[in-house]
Amino acid sequence: MSSNYDIKLNIPKNNKNIIPEFGADINDLSLTVEYQTPYRIRVCISDVEEKRWRIPDSVVPLDKARSDVKEFNYDFGYENNPFGFYVNRKSDGEKVFDTISERFIFKDQYIEISTKLPKKSNIYGLGEITGPLKREEGKRTTIWTRDAPCPVGENVYGAHPFYMELRKGKAHGVFLFNSNGMDILYEDGKLTYKVIGGILDFYIFLGPSPIEVVEQYSELIGYPCLIPYWSLGFHQCRWGYNTILKLEDMVDQYKEAKIPMDVVWIDIDYMDSYKLFTYDPTRFPVDKFSEFVAKLHQNHQKFVAIVDPGVKVEKGYKPYDEGVEKNLFIKRADGKDYMGKVWPGITVFPDWFHPEVEQYWTESFRHWLSQVPIDGIWIDMNEIASFIDGDLGNLSHQVNEVFIPTGDQTVDDMANTVVNRFSITQTIKNLFSKLVCIITFKKYLSVNNPPYAINNAGIEAPLFTRTSPMDAFHHTGITEYNAHNLFGHMEASMTHRALRTIRPEKRPFILSRSTFPSSGRYTAHWLGDNYSQWDNLIHSIPGMLAFQLFSIPLVGADICGFNGKCEEELAIRWIQLGAFYPFSRNHNMINMPGQECYQWEKVKQISKNWLEVRYTLLPYWYTTFYHAAIKGTPVLRPLWFMEPENEDTWNIDQQFLVGEGLLITPVTTEKAIKVKGYYPSGIWYDFFTGVKLLQGDKGQWKEIDAPLEIIPVHIHGGKIIPLHCRASLTTFESRANGIKLLVALDKEGKAKGGLYLDDGETPLEQIKDKYTFINFIAEDFALKCNGIFGYEDQGTFIDEIIIFGTSKYEGQLIVKIGENEKSIEKENIEWEKDIGKLAIKGLGIDLKNG
Ligand code: GLC
Repeated sequence: MSSNYDIKLNIPKNNKNIIPEFGADINDLSLTVEYQTPYRIRVCISDVEEKRWRIPDSVVPLDKARSDVKEFNYDFGYENNPFGFYVNRKSDGEKVFDTISERFIFKDQYIEISTKLPKKSNIYGLGEITGPLKREEGKRTTIWTRDAPCPVGENVYGAHPFYMELRKGKAHGVFLFNSNGMDILYEDGKLTYKVIGGILDFYIFLGPSPIEVVEQYSELIGYPCLIPYWSLGFHQCRWGYNTILKLEDMVDQYKEAKIPMDVVWIDIDYMDSYKLFTYDPTRFPVDKFSEFVAKLHQNHQKFVAIVDPGVKVEKGYKPYDEGVEKNLFIKRADGKDYMGKVWPGITVFPDWFHPEVEQYWTESFRHWLSQVPIDGIWIDMNEIASFIDGDLGNLSHQVNEVFIPTGDQTVDDMANTVVNRFSITQTIKNLFSKLVCIITFKKYLSVNNPPYAINNAGIEAPLFTRTSPMDAFHHTGITEYNAHNLFGHMEASMTHRALRTIRPEKRPFILSRSTFPSSGRYTAHWLGDNYSQWDNLIHSIPGMLAFQLFSIPLVGADICGFNGKCEEELAIRWIQLGAFYPFSRNHNMINMPGQECYQWEKVKQISKNWLEVRYTLLPYWYTTFYHAAIKGTPVLRPLWFMEPENEDTWNIDQQFLVGEGLLITPVTTEKAIKVKGYYPSGIWYDFFTGVKLLQGDKGQWKEIDAPLEIIPVHIHGGKIIPLHCRASLTTFESRANGIKLLVALDKEGKAKGGLYLDDGETPLEQIKDKYTFINFIAEDFALKCNGIFGYEDQGTFIDEIIIFGTSKYEGQLIVKIGENEKSIEKENIEWEKDIGKLAIKGLGIDLKNG
């Protein structure tokens, strides 16, 4: 067999003329099959002439097929009349994708294909939607980027047509590389794709373990970027820090309460009338503002500011004038600039496909950043979000006022106020434009109101609802109908490149609301405008886990909730959980009562404790993120990653593993002081005390005490976790405190783990040999540390070792770093025999010289 097996053929007409109201069938189709790697196959069905919309390589560059592969863990087969294909995993003969004898339809605006599923399937992923990680039978999942405050089961901010399926303990993944709107239905023993454009370009990953599936998917779409060390610290944000004084006060209060906090955020409040790339001249004058940021830097803290994509329509405002002059904004059907409405009033939007937009975006950032040394960029409203449906057209003169927040409203209420004020006129306008379009351009109607309505917003809402018209277009005529789902992703990649150009020596930090497959290369993500309610705390866990499948590991929800008032007990439980979010940020809506960690006395104490735990865990988090960056290994995992064959784990999405070894069992119920958790096989130790929770060859459910101050955290026997010896108030200071190893022995008295360290900010490809990567192996009370010892700073020494599970300890411990061996004297070892916990402090073992 050739290493890159590739066939082409014409698919004859089949299922002829089904659903004629959805348009005519396209009969000349071609099928391309590429055996890309031993575990990845591509199956692409497109028009023979290749005229249909495909996502350009420049927008999402995918890993190419390997030419050196001889063995593949799959077979491909197809039938031609009617058309269907299957992909069979050779190792176990499982048909992981099988469309044979299922309905297949290919029309201009409606493509349907189904794959058979076993009864009670385990399908995870597909998004972005709020709700359980596992797809429920009888439901359709809609993929269409949309600004909506986390309504359960509906399409929200990102577009991720990727799922993982577990069958008989093995996992496989399926990615449909397509940016058009779609519904994916799970019913009647099959999964049916209903896609309204583009082509069917499937990538199927054979796993067979869940981790391998994510790694294989990441290899295709690009590994997530290595994040700056500081971004693992705690972030404080709110909408409403509208003076420098308020920011200063917040920073001081954190300091006074001795609660770790690394990153200060500012929302749209700093802008001059919400115009991007401006600073409000009275509230945020550049000199005072940059002094404030410089002071943060002196305290080893960082600063992130929001940038929205909508450019205010205002003559004399440079970003607008320049964009107009260079023709850089998205156009509407008649060739004029498409206008939406966002915070500054009427806005136009950069066309990321335009060849000159990168320079425009980069130079705008360069100028803006040269005034205030902002460290990271938060890109929001990039679905594209607008407060009206479609283009403003002739109404523009009526709505070009700046948004003024009033009272206790949610963002949605506020946006609706804007919409409602114009809704009647808007509806008339929409109807009128529809009429005009029916008469004039048929095409206009078909993209704005395609024959098949995807379940946008759960009500089959028009595609242009609260966004651009679908016939708005980009450079070379690419319509929003085809490119809508790519806007946020393209903005993220453009912003990432801009920051790399401006500051080549620093890793960019970007947080984007809208994402697409491969956005993890450029950006982190938060789960959007949630509410300060218990069920929103619950949904944040599957939300984060889904983004691990999507290979955007730096993710979190707004801690304490964005909309609404957060009550004390919820704040406590949310901060405890948020201390284990990969991206840990407290964010609040304007006009809502403050919810910073210091706002309540009890919350203050508890936050301090849990954020300190987070800060001691930084080396472990960072090492886990390093594995994500070099291999695509997910940072958080659901329990079924650990025991995919164990049915008990399949529905659990309220507990999660950080890396391989830490299991978090959050309390998500009001007034609860106990929590039920599932503990897979092996030994589980309490992370803090070393007390054995349980040990077994089979997993078990267990009810655990979890009073208000406690979120249960357990470490799995067999793992070694690197920690900072102590937490300081910033990640930078914590790094100087040295390394502590937590060794949790398995039943054979063994454990292993790893540590990656570098300066935390140089881009990965420039690190060269200035990094440390150690493998730890513990066995027979000897700890071996082998690897590369290229990075050195004040904190690169092992000062403490804690060992759990040492009931058989006989009074000797050896630490071997490279070839250097050190025997630890008995008198320097504390042994709590009843618990089986052994502690050695003050070791001072240099990680360079041993
Ligand atoms: C959007 C964002 C939210 C932000 C607000 C104002 O609603 O999702 O986080 O605070 O806009 O910029």
